[in-house]
Amino acid sequence: PQFTFEPNANAVSAAERAGLIADPGFGRVFTDHMAVVRYSDAKGWYDARITARAPLQMDPASSVLHYAQEIFEGLKAYRLPDGGAQLFRPEANARRFRHSARRLAMPEMPESLFIESIERLVEADRAWIPQADGAALYLRPFMIASEVFLGVKPSSDYLYMVIASAVGAYFKGGAKAISLWATPTYSRAGPGGTGDAKCGGNYASSLIAQAEATRNGCDQVVFLDTKEHRWVEELGGMNIFFVFEDGSLLTPPLGGTILPGITRDSLVALARAEGLTVREELYGIDQWRADAESGRLRECFACGTAAVVTPIGQLKGPDFGFVIGNGGPGMVTGKLHDALVSIQRGTAPDPHGWSRRL
Ligand code: PLP
Ligand code: COI
Repeated sequence: PQFTFEPNANAVSAAERAGLIADPGFGRVFTDHMAVVRYSDAKGWYDARITARAPLQMDPASSVLHYAQEIFEGLKAYRLPDGGAQLFRPEANARRFRHSARRLAMPEMPESLFIESIERLVEADRAWIPQADGAALYLRPFMIASEVFLGVKPSSDYLYMVIASAVGAYFKGGAKAISLWATPTYSRAGPGGTGDAKCGGNYASSLIAQAEATRNGCDQVVFLDTKEHRWVEELGGMNIFFVFEDGSLLTPPLGGTILPGITRDSLVALARAEGLTVREELYGIDQWRADAESGRLRECFACGTAAVVTPIGQLKGPDFGFVIGNGGPGMVTGKLHDALVSIQRGTAPDPHGWSRRL
């Protein structure tokens, strides 16, 4: 379908916008427009629009409200030094969105339509891309089941949308290093489950574990595998890396239970391009503790679109707690952060062809 554009007649003024995006925090400042595409089994993809951002009207029997047939994505548009703008690897988000759709028994949106929806929205709301270091326009494509029916089956109708939010650092105060809580109580995903799909249900089930982390004074929860409760998987909304004294890196493998992060994939490539060894291997929590205590483990960091690259300084559990390295940001972490961010923000060459200029 062709996108139509209906400009928002009540768009905020330039002065008001400047105030809103100056220090936006994360996920509370939204732009003037949104992208909408509908799908039905009978018509396929139709009614593609860029329109004023506004509340939705939904029938209370819409199936997403009952059975959580929902998927989403997250990516950012960055302001370039010359005033232009670019997206980072949107093709990878388009591919993962299709993968998530398949897992949730939803229609697979053509990758070109997914990318066009984002490009058209950013074109309309380009002025909302913040300039400051660490700030960007966070794009949130998502799709919900909209059939009015209480039977449990894949919906025949779907609503796809993209909203945009001016964002700064995900962690308050741009945390220098965060602390993790190894939950002894909860799991995120098991074999055959939805762990490698980006669906809202994964996050709904993670909230109680995140609350447990907060109650124990930690910033984020880290999940272990469901079966042995031993192997490190990922955080509530980020992947994880370990850096050892010999300069090598390790990150848990993509076994179907963790989200295949695009930041994770990019950092593996950047580290290897720097000549560093990166192993995608299982890592046990017992080993993590032993390596931290012996000093073999030097650094640890979390990564994701929202979190970018965030140092991890401490791990806590119900009956243990230890510091990683010096408890603050490590050197390898800092280098990889800078290498990634300089490509994303267009201040360094992009040898991998990851940037998509708008
Ligand atoms: N793992 C989870 C559970 C996430 O929610 C995210 C964030 O999107 C990631 C990992 C990192 O993925 P990406 O780097 O593609 O943003
Ligand atoms: C992202 O990084 O895009 C996510 O979806 C993670 C969430 C913590 C905001």
